Amino acid sequence: MMNQLHLSLVLLFLISNSCLMIQSQQPYIGQATNQCDNTNNSTSVLGYSCNGVNPSCQAYLTFRSQPPFNSVSSISTLLAADPSQVSQLNNVSNNQADATFETNKLVLVPINCSCSGPFYQSNTSYVLQNDDTYYTTANITFQGLSSCQALQAENGNLSTRNLVPGTRINVPLRCACPTRNQTDDGVKYLLSYLVTFGDSVYDISTMFNVDTGKTLQANGLSEEDFTIYPFTTLLVPLQNPPSISQIIQPPPPPPSSNAPSPKGSSNKAWIYALVGTLGGIALISVSGLLVYWFCFRGRKRTEKDPVVVSESFDSIEKAPEKNGMKSAEDEMSSSFWDSLSSFAQSLNLYSYEELRLATDNFGPSCLIGGSVYRGMIKGDYAAMKKMSGDVSEEINLLNKLNHLNLIRLSGVCFNDGYWYMVYEYAANGALSDWIYGKNLGKEKEMLILDWKQRVQIGLDVATGLNYLHSYTSPPHVHKDLNCSNVLLDGDFRAKISNFGLARSAEGPGEGGGQFALTRHIIGTKGYMAPEYLENGLISTKLDVYSFGVLLLEILTGKEVAVLYESVKIQSLAEILIPVLNEKDGIENLSQIMDSSLGGNYPSELAILLIKLIDSCLKKDPSARPSMHEIVQTFTTTVTATTSWESKLSV
Ligand SMILES: *[C@@H]1O[C@H](CO)[C@@H](O)[C@H](O)[C@H]1NC(C)=O
Ligand SMILES: *[C@@H]1O[C@H](CO)[C@@H](O)[C@H](O)[C@H]1NC(C)=O
Ligand SMILES: *[C@@H]1O[C@H](CO)[C@@H](O)[C@H](O)[C@H]1NC(C)=O
Ligand SMILES: *[C@@H]1O[C@H](CO)[C@@H](O)[C@H](O)[C@H]1NC(C)=O
Ligand SMILES: *[C@@H]1O[C@H](CO)[C@@H](O)[C@H](O)[C@H]1NC(C)=O
Ligand SMILES: *[C@@H]1O[C@H](CO)[C@@H](O)[C@H](O)[C@H]1NC(C)=O
Ligand SMILES: *[C@@H]1O[C@H](CO)[C@@H](O)[C@H](O)[C@H]1NC(C)=O
Ligand SMILES: *[C@@H]1O[C@H](CO)[C@@H](O)[C@H](O)[C@H]1NC(C)=O
Repeated sequence: MMNQLHLSLVLLFLISNSCLMIQSQQPYIGQATNQCDNTNNSTSVLGYSCNGVNPSCQAYLTFRSQPPFNSVSSISTLLAADPSQVSQLNNVSNNQADATFETNKLVLVPINCSCSGPFYQSNTSYVLQNDDTYYTTANITFQGLSSCQALQAENGNLSTRNLVPGTRINVPLRCACPTRNQTDDGVKYLLSYLVTFGDSVYDISTMFNVDTGKTLQANGLSEEDFTIYPFTTLLVPLQNPPSISQIIQPPPPPPSSNAPSPKGSSNKAWIYALVGTLGGIALISVSGLLVYWFCFRGRKRTEKDPVVVSESFDSIEKAPEKNGMKSAEDEMSSSFWDSLSSFAQSLNLYSYEELRLATDNFGPSCLIGGSVYRGMIKGDYAAMKKMSGDVSEEINLLNKLNHLNLIRLSGVCFNDGYWYMVYEYAANGALSDWIYGKNLGKEKEMLILDWKQRVQIGLDVATGLNYLHSYTSPPHVHKDLNCSNVLLDGDFRAKISNFGLARSAEGPGEGGGQFALTRHIIGTKGYMAPEYLENGLISTKLDVYSFGVLLLEILTGKEVAVLYESVKIQSLAEILIPVLNEKDGIENLSQIMDSSLGGNYPSELAILLIKLIDSCLKKDPSARPSMHEIVQTFTTTVTATTSWESKLSV
């Protein structure tokens, strides 16, 4: 009897243990840690799950020195770490524990991590200061090492109202111990790295000399989805304790002497080496030809095509040239290849032969339009664009971006002076085909997007732009958002493409101001904001204006050029006046809305979006909403659309 009980206990232990081992990764939860009202606890917002080999272990955190937490002693107190260990790890002598670090210096902090209920955590406490909330405590004071949900759970007896200055709250810090899978792989410690602007999984892994794939795996990320956000933690699996030399010295460049020749190799390490440097040589200045693709997709170019092309256009796209710089072809010398110093992840280097086979020798049956071909690579469709000139800026930017709503660059090929960019394939093509494709004859008349699809596309585009504006470092402006540059995948989810004109929103030098100026006005007619056309002023508000125009096209089903003709005056916003007039706005809605919707849309939501368009088209850029605000409006609209739909079906 006793024995049986014993046996079943052992079995139970084994079973539960093996169950834990199955989910051996910790999911990366992104921005959920900052969403205080998110009560969905099924993700690891409350902490990394207690699924390691040991219930407690030595672990590490990073912290960025910020006054008043900018010395060994103040940081150790804040994070409940042992000051002598912190000193040692950061190469500070013990008698200098009060010496201040420079602001934003990365500090390594050793802590003890242990299971508390279903989560790992390292306990500390914090006395609330003026105006502190769970949110500011988690995101600002602790920089994302804790989450506001975890603070709420840990201090359950304190309601948000009771958060008066002077109250001491418990703070669980996010840490974890290696899983069986990781220990089998030699991993001894997990470091909770605090992501900051401009970080990529690759950069962080390289810093700690860890294979990028293992970091992705440790966080449940994949090569297809590795978006990370500032003020969140990323687990770095370490075989040895981290060292200060890793975070002060730049990662060693890959050996340049054995860089293989650019042609015909599919060695990934090589392309890794390529991309980082291309970024390095890129100087932000846009001139030369307009880069655009998919423009000709499925339609003939007419005189009215609202595109400004500053020079003649041939069938091969030319990337914008850099002022006073040699083109990439000239730079393809051995010193160019030798200078390649860091690399990108998830980018394949294709041989020309591979692309040739994939596209039936770039045959007409595979031509999508312009110089863009469709081909089957490794069992998946891809879009391939042939380009000449310096594509480094686009490669470098796209390589940093990983977002569902931004088209993904999956690989490149260089052959005979031309670049071939390989992008993810968007099965439903350009939004323009769907919005005004119906002007193109019978066959296209079938292409009608319903209200819900249109609203979802708006949200997708806004989300993609918000990512570009707020989560790239430095912030970028797309600069050429239009209906042809928004592609639709098989599920009609939108992906922004064509980053040929994208550039930093910050001026060169002087630490980057709010605005940058350019004398080269390039973009798509009708979509360009007045301050850009008049003064060459570049800011993220440029994209907001273009977004307003795009949304107007989506709702009216008309091309912007046609809309301008209908107003016969300068300002597009005038089209909206009949609806914005509060009294009889709703009656006038049908004047504006696409007739092919057949009146099937919720009027209140349509008016909400028309008001949004009006604010996006404001002449004064500062009066336009931010993409963040637009995303919020659209999120509400999508939710409201869902309930409108379900009411309809009842
Ligand atoms: C909670 O989040 C998880 C993962 O994001 C999701 O699968 C699940 O459906 C969500 N649950 C609720 C109730 O929203
Ligand atoms: C962590 O645990 C070790 C061993 O149990 C102990 O010596 C050390 O003081 C602990 N550190 C902290 C900061 O509690
Ligand atoms: C940390 O705090 C939690 C809850 O306050 C507690 O259950 C747990 O035992 C603590 N862990 C350690 C190592 O003190
Ligand atoms: C967290 O705080 C930082 C400043 O410390 C701020 O830049 C960031 O936007 C905040 N995160 C969120 C999601 O608000
Ligand atoms: C999530 O956890 C918080 C804090 O423990 C709790 O108040 C909330 O009800 C939980 N939400 C769900 C859906 O379980
Ligand atoms: C909440 O509980 C903690 C211990 O879990 C205790 O120290 C603290 O005084 C309590 N706070 C209030 C306001 O009751
Ligand atoms: C365990 O590690 C192996 C390779 O090291 C990997 O293929 C496998 O997916 C991992 N299992 C889990 C659940 O992460
Ligand atoms: C640590 O500090 C000493 C003197 O303060 C210095 O000589 C040494 O180079 C430092 N080590 C590292 C890795 O920074």
